[in-house]
Amino acid sequence: MHYFRRKGWELPESAATPEAVMQAARPGLSRRQTLLVGAGAATALSLRPARARDQATTDALHPYPRNAAYAVERPLTAENIAANYNNFYEYGTTKSIAAAAQQLQTRPWLLRIDGLVEKPFEIGIDELILAMPREERLYRFRCVEAWSMTVPWSGFPLRALLDYAKPLGSAKYVRFETFLDPKMAPGQRAPFYPWPYVEGVTMAEAGNDLAFLVTGAYGKPLAKQFGAPIRLALPWKYGFKSIKSIRRISFVAERPKGLWEALQPSEYGFWANVNPEVAHPRWSQASETVLGTNDRIPSRLFNGYGEFVAGLYTGLERERLWA
Ligand code: MTE
Repeated sequence: MHYFRRKGWELPESAATPEAVMQAARPGLSRRQTLLVGAGAATALSLRPARARDQATTDALHPYPRNAAYAVERPLTAENIAANYNNFYEYGTTKSIAAAAQQLQTRPWLLRIDGLVEKPFEIGIDELILAMPREERLYRFRCVEAWSMTVPWSGFPLRALLDYAKPLGSAKYVRFETFLDPKMAPGQRAPFYPWPYVEGVTMAEAGNDLAFLVTGAYGKPLAKQFGAPIRLALPWKYGFKSIKSIRRISFVAERPKGLWEALQPSEYGFWANVNPEVAHPRWSQASETVLGTNDRIPSRLFNGYGEFVAGLYTGLERERLWA
């Protein structure tokens, strides 16, 4: 994600990756990947005990059965490409955070459900996964930075969690919050970001068939850099809405303000639906670079998911739906 630097929380110039470098690196992925392979090899040994501690009781449930209703016309992005090109600012501001993200401890992991619900509760991630209708879906994913990928996510519909959580009629929005633990996530020591990462959707969006809580990818438990043990996938919206490593889900009456919206509201808003005709203030959204092949393809309204979601926005035309 790019944003204008401002006083107070601003990133020192020396710590930033110049945009020209990122652009130059993007085409082949090779420089980043070379760096990453080196970093991964260096940390593999020291991380082994942490992995052993992490064994979760629901890992053996993978692969989840594929739901053929969610197919894609594009080839899937190779796993090693998708798993080595990530935005996860808790672990750094580059795309090469996979090695650093192995510090994330995903068990035990308590998810808190609160706010406007019949009864607030906490539930262990494995207990929740066991209680949910699990499936795999193939989804397109479009980042606001104009790159895209296609991923086999496994998880369960967000609507199943709504049914489980029993929100009150007064709930208007669902607010998601990532963990807050600067010891486990060095990026959270950077004071210029309003941690923890927060995102939100309306109740109607949360109940849409496409809204999906992800606990795995590529037929396996979710890799840490993808936002283990549980993240969101909202494929018709720009990728920053798909919050990772969720610790708390709250039902609220007020519209939640996401981390990027809090940081740069002129560039990142609440709705963030994909629209190729509405440019980001600093770049076009008309096309996107496909991770892995580097093909430049036209972007699509609602990322091609209009038939599922366009109806959510009738009557909301005066809202800033596209950024
Ligand atoms: N969630 C958290 N907690 N922290 C983040 O930095 N980045 C967002 C989103 N969710 C982010 C996050 C952005 S900008 C994108 S594009 C996607 O995660 C990237 O998901 P991926 O790494 O699986 O491609």
